[in-house]
Amino acid sequence: MLNRKDVLGLYDLSAEEIDEILTTGMNMKKLLRQNIKKLPHLQGKTVTTLFYENSTRTRCSFELAADYMGAHVVNIAAASSSVQKGETLVDTGKTLDAMKNDVIVIRHPMGGAPRLLAKTVKAHVVNAGDGMNEHPTQALLDMLTMRENFPSIAGLKVAILGDISHSRVAKSNLFGLKKLGAEVRMFAPRTLMPTGIDRMGAKVCASREEAVEGADVVMGLRIQLERQHGGNFPSLGEYAKYYGADEALMRYAAPHALVMHPGPVNRGVELTSALIDGDTSRIEEQVLSGIAVRMAILFLLTKEEVAS
Ligand code: CP
Repeated sequence: MLNRKDVLGLYDLSAEEIDEILTTGMNMKKLLRQNIKKLPHLQGKTVTTLFYENSTRTRCSFELAADYMGAHVVNIAAASSSVQKGETLVDTGKTLDAMKNDVIVIRHPMGGAPRLLAKTVKAHVVNAGDGMNEHPTQALLDMLTMRENFPSIAGLKVAILGDISHSRVAKSNLFGLKKLGAEVRMFAPRTLMPTGIDRMGAKVCASREEAVEGADVVMGLRIQLERQHGGNFPSLGEYAKYYGADEALMRYAAPHALVMHPGPVNRGVELTSALIDGDTSRIEEQVLSGIAVRMAILFLLTKEEVAS
């Protein structure tokens, strides 16, 4: 039972809580597939998306999720808000509380910002990505997509390739997938592999072939050029050649293996166009799972209040 005020990371969530979100998300996805976009679950609620970093998928899908369930939806982009006049995160949160916001969805470049906000506001807080820390709803939508495509997440072999160091997606997937019994393999240039990730449960591989051998899912991660301060690899072309995934690499994977990527993709760098657009790609499916899983979280966090 998801019986908590906030969703800040998958490190915090139990396997049972993750399972409840995924089960609810799968039901939401069935409704979306039937093009049902008018639901009563959040009627009378206000959801604010507070984004201090760029986003297409996460922001849009949270806003659609809230809108489809009948909430009032407000967006605050930090670039055009009073943050530019020096207002602190905590004061921004207090202002949103005073406006009777029910849920604040926050993306912030600093790890820990959603947790600080959650401590200081009455509204539910959902982490939409904080620095290099966690991106829980991305991992949940990835897991929802896996659950739909395989009988169970337990026992799956998931290979995550790319910029693990800067990736909040990799960390949230590691925490979530391990809790549900999957094996998580990781491969990156040494300069983009954080020390200690093996102690968190990842199997750190010496080559991309080792990571992909027999894998059920091959997930590419975006090279986060905005978080690199130079010197982690020689060039994008060399990254693609030595660390990216292509059709030849997929021959090492299980015959039924699926290709995933959280987006946005640097096309031809992390994955070739043939993989992105091919039959085994589930990248567009992930996007629909994103709306469904965010509907599930918004509903589960507020459902007692809506019912009372
Ligand atoms: N995957 C993801 O977080 O994408 P956006 O940055 O577009 O939200």
